[in-house]
Amino acid sequence: MPFSVSRRDAVLTLLGASCFYLITALVSDSRLASPALLQNPGISGASVGDLLNSGPLPAKKTIDLGLVEDFPETTVISHAPGWTLFTNLYMHAGALIILTSEPASSFPLPPMMTSTGLPGNLTNDAQRIPTENDMAFVTPAQARKWWGGGNERHRVLTVEGTTALFNDPPQFLNHYFHFVAELMFGTWAFLYGAFADEKLSKPASATPDASFTLPLLSTNTPIISRAIFIHSDVDGWRDGPGFNGYFMRAVFPSITIEVKKDWIDRINATSPTNTHIGRAWHFPLALLTDRSAAFRGPITGAHTQRTAAQPWMRMAKQGKIDLIGNWWASLRSALTRYAGGDPTERMSAELEVPDTIVITYIDRQGTRRHLRDADNLALLKAMEELVKRKNVEDDGKRKWEFHDVHAERLSLDEQVQVASRTTIMLGVHGNGLTHLVLMKPTKVSAVVEIFLPGGFARDYEWTSRSLGMTHYSIWNDTSFTHPHEPEIPDYPDGFHGPNIPVHAPTVVKVIEEHVAMRMRGPSLPDNSPVNDTYADEI
Ligand SMILES: *[C@@H]1O[C@H](CO)[C@@H](O)[C@H](O)[C@H]1NC(C)=O
Ligand SMILES: *[C@@H]1O[C@H](CO)[C@@H](O)[C@H](O)[C@H]1NC(C)=O
Ligand SMILES: *[C@@H]1O[C@H](CO)[C@@H](O)[C@H](O)[C@H]1NC(C)=O
Repeated sequence: MPFSVSRRDAVLTLLGASCFYLITALVSDSRLASPALLQNPGISGASVGDLLNSGPLPAKKTIDLGLVEDFPETTVISHAPGWTLFTNLYMHAGALIILTSEPASSFPLPPMMTSTGLPGNLTNDAQRIPTENDMAFVTPAQARKWWGGGNERHRVLTVEGTTALFNDPPQFLNHYFHFVAELMFGTWAFLYGAFADEKLSKPASATPDASFTLPLLSTNTPIISRAIFIHSDVDGWRDGPGFNGYFMRAVFPSITIEVKKDWIDRINATSPTNTHIGRAWHFPLALLTDRSAAFRGPITGAHTQRTAAQPWMRMAKQGKIDLIGNWWASLRSALTRYAGGDPTERMSAELEVPDTIVITYIDRQGTRRHLRDADNLALLKAMEELVKRKNVEDDGKRKWEFHDVHAERLSLDEQVQVASRTTIMLGVHGNGLTHLVLMKPTKVSAVVEIFLPGGFARDYEWTSRSLGMTHYSIWNDTSFTHPHEPEIPDYPDGFHGPNIPVHAPTVVKVIEEHVAMRMRGPSLPDNSPVNDTYADEI
């Protein structure tokens, strides 16, 4: 599976070749849950029974938009190619509707926001350009004509809360790296960044009256109420090992997931072929993501091939997300706590010095792409020796651990636990390295990735750096790190094969020198992608 994905990635790399920023008053937060429970300082004194049985909670006040003269118009809160955060987005007969009295030119171009949702390949660029069936601009006058107004109730139904509209086909969704380290990574960077300014009130959110769920660390980011996989069936967004489903339930326990058939229900409910009375859906807050549109932007298409790079860069350039992964800590720590890890995690203003250096080797010898057996044995031996020697040299002041991890032999919980304790992740290029997004970035956190000499891909390199960690590439007995990596990914013959060489002493040297250097160095890493030469192209 990693083989075919990397090849598809290489293909999409070849496909690669207005910022719009409006802050707007969000739809009323009058629907925020029960003021009595949120504001009552005496809450801790009351028993749960008192709280839950004290009669009906004060009614939530909702503005009835069905009777207002004007439809709330669509605004774009944030946009980067392939990632657009809207208020008041509508849907009618399958087309996302931008309801506006402004000219279309005041919005990003539709191909930079969406596509027809077809899987990408080298020859169907044109077929993926969206048409009016995918996204359309509608004036308030037209909307009133179609969906009622004046003396009549609008025939529009609000889909409450925050909706993530994922417009991609299963092509990349059904893979842990692309799902968690791209789609979710970009989604959270964008949502977190857009609401980083605490003055921008969180929209009508799912702040519960009472809940067993530990709150996320970032309290201002709206929780995603619903994910809609517009072009995927019920299995299309799930990966083989089951991490995508695990992630979604652990991190967003209340999320509702809809797939293509559910979307067709919504289309049919509004489609003129099925209904003679016009209807529409209204999404008060919606994040639309589209992989084809992301590849039309330079940061993804021309430079990183990482869809998450675009939303990350937009927010990083505006200073809305930090460069050491605090923005991502909410999801990472929710997952860690779910798996039985440290429940007391906090965000930290700067990278901490760990008291234990945990080296985790993601061992791929049981899979197709792997090291030469003799080199693997030598590597294991060298790592054991390194840890032993370091524990003597550091004389208890700092502990060193080494773990040889065969992911396929561990439960998902065990994998999350070991990854979340890891300071240095080592392994041959492959999906297992996605677990780097579970590492808590520290001053010495690093990813050491072994490639077939001459081969290179940015997946884990970009992701490590965007979290404030260092990334090293190993080509047998040589190594390099940013900014010395190749500009263009390369998958030479044997890249995915079982004969990848590695010179163990080179790996030992890279790790030892890295830790020594980072212990002496400044607390902020200087290798963040926000400093890359192309960063201004966002
Ligand atoms: C590319 O995708 C289009 C559909 O968009 C399909 O008709 C065509 O056969 C595909 N080409 C290849 C080479 O897979
Ligand atoms: C949606 O409408 C189309 C066209 O009328 C129909 O063929 C299809 O069966 C409907 N699908 C669902 C899920 O209702
Ligand atoms: C890997 O590096 C070692 C040490 O320099 C060398 O002896 C060995 O031949 C190299 N292997 C390959 C396949 O290049």
